[in-house]
Amino acid sequence: MIQINKFNKIIVGNWKLNGSFEFIDAYFKKLSTNIGSKNDVCSIICPPNIYLNYSSGKVKNSFLGAQDCSKYNNGAYTGEISVSMIKENNCNFCIIGHSERRQFFNETSLDIKIKAENLIKNKINPIICIGETLEEKNRGITEIVLKKQIVDSLPSNSLNESLIIAYEPIWAIGTGLIPSFDEINKVHSYIKSQISNFENYKILYGGSVNSSNSNDIINLAYVDGVLVGGASIDVNEFNKILNI
Ligand code: PGA
Repeated sequence: MIQINKFNKIIVGNWKLNGSFEFIDAYFKKLSTNIGSKNDVCSIICPPNIYLNYSSGKVKNSFLGAQDCSKYNNGAYTGEISVSMIKENNCNFCIIGHSERRQFFNETSLDIKIKAENLIKNKINPIICIGETLEEKNRGITEIVLKKQIVDSLPSNSLNESLIIAYEPIWAIGTGLIPSFDEINKVHSYIKSQISNFENYKILYGGSVNSSNSNDIINLAYVDGVLVGGASIDVNEFNKILNI
């Protein structure tokens, strides 16, 4: 498991359902290997799972992450990919509970908790996504929603294991809208106040991060990094975000 507390900031690129061998060749040729101004920035690239192994032969100075894993370890589960399989494909991190999986694939917080526990047992760092809808934000129940997601999806393994949480307001994903910097900071501070059984954790912000807003967001007091979707597909744009 990667000890994340040795890093000051963490920057994750989530390619989602994008990529090809040709794309990967070009991307890793251009991806910055001189990350951050110091050695304390952790860069994690998350290609589609099927490209993890191929990417591991190309990537330099960044870690690889999966975009999801099965909650099952083996057996009659057609189409699933287990934690040990992604581990064998040179992957150190795994995003789980992304709102797109919760929304389009009906994943529950219990599914996410099981995945997180399996990941920790297999020494892969989970990146657990939480976030509220616009309707929930407008009703003023963001903190209640986040608290429930934290209680229900965080793994029970504890102590000094490393955990990453990504706060991604659903209404900010892929829309170009972001909360005010003050709001981001306040929500992150609230999330921190709710996590008790992990000593080493980081909280990232995700949702419409690009090279124009990444520096301001990443330097907020309670923000430990960013999870970038759309802007991570363009390697020049992602290099600018890495260059903090
Ligand atoms: P976005 O996606 O940066 O395209 O808004 C973020 C995410 O879904 O993780």
